[in-house]
Amino acid sequence: MSLNTFGHLFRVTTWGESHGPALGCTIDGCPPGVPLTEADIQPWLDRRKPGQNRFTTQRREADEVKILSGTYEGRTTGTPIQLMIENTDQRSKDYSEIAQKFRPGHADITYWQKYGIRDPRGGGRSSARETAARVAAGGVARAALAALAPQVKITGYMVQMGQHAIDRRRFDWAEIERNPFWVPDARAAQDWETYLDDLRKSGNSVGAVIEVVAQGVPAGLGAPIYGKLDSDLAAAMMSINAVKGVEIGEGMAAAALTGIENADEIEMGNDGPRYLSNHAGGILGGISTGQDVVVRFAVKPTSSILTPRKTVTLAGEATELVTKGRHDPCVGIRAVPVGEAMMACVLLDHLLLDRGQTGGLRGQIG
Ligand SMILES: Cc1cc2nc3c(=O)[nH]c(=O)nc-3n(C[C@H](O)[C@H](O)[C@H](O)COP(=O)(O)O)c2cc1C
Repeated sequence: MSLNTFGHLFRVTTWGESHGPALGCTIDGCPPGVPLTEADIQPWLDRRKPGQNRFTTQRREADEVKILSGTYEGRTTGTPIQLMIENTDQRSKDYSEIAQKFRPGHADITYWQKYGIRDPRGGGRSSARETAARVAAGGVARAALAALAPQVKITGYMVQMGQHAIDRRRFDWAEIERNPFWVPDARAAQDWETYLDDLRKSGNSVGAVIEVVAQGVPAGLGAPIYGKLDSDLAAAMMSINAVKGVEIGEGMAAAALTGIENADEIEMGNDGPRYLSNHAGGILGGISTGQDVVVRFAVKPTSSILTPRKTVTLAGEATELVTKGRHDPCVGIRAVPVGEAMMACVLLDHLLLDRGQTGGLRGQIG
């Protein structure tokens, strides 16, 4: 049974655990001839890697990616691409207690119930270390997109931490890279520093909402019903650890709108049809409209916290657990590059599917 793979034509299989010697992914279906070296992938991994500031886990990993196969003289060959990232900063003693007790809110209990065996060190396979492999795959997808659809630009950012949402009137794209939260609102970045510091020191954690926008996506990617671009995007984002909700465009808020408010009106522009708003999040009938594709996902608060929580032991005895070790006080921060990577993989996958089915043929308007 293969449950570690995603994608239709651009297929990514991730492998590895938090405290194993290495982790990585195998990518099958990448088009040949795409310029690709480690230097094309590493910058994306550097954005996700832990220990970059006091608001993320203090585990120190270089997250250096190695390409083991699938390229020749700096270009993809069309054969499987094997990427490997070594784990270098494991501290397994941090996890001796959780080998015997289940962390409330984490995957320990369900893994045990399902498999009857688990690697408790760092959460094993359910550790967010796995997301490094996705970001590496996203780097390859971005390289292929740069070759096939260079106008596509993918940007992720945080729009909410706990109860604190950004003020969209202050939205500034340039601000995203300037603060530790990838937040496009300078005032929110300042407020969140104090908020998260206090929360962390009090032995608590908090959830977040991340938005990922893809600009320059051509109209026509996706398919109706079972191959909807939005259902693949939702599945991709939902597969990220700690994600509990996904929205496209207006998402849940669409339920509160009327038809007059929600339908994005269309007019004829110089280069074809133009929409007067984007409540649809760039997707109609499962197919991209040519507008920005907008996805949001909510991550839950980190379950590993320093405040004692009631739980049970392997033997079924009542106990309490304080989770020591090094943890992210808000997983939303490092989830931003992960969301971007998933967007890149899904868009490339649908670009390849579209090329295969329609060969780029389009219905003309005007
Ligand atoms: C980028 C990222 C970082 C994370 N860091 C931590 C962490 O430091 N400690 C922790 O307990 N969970 C962390 N998580 C969440 C767990 O991996 C996740 O909650 C766990 O796999 C249980 O799965 P579920 O939340 O999807 O049900 C992180 C998740 C992501 C996406």
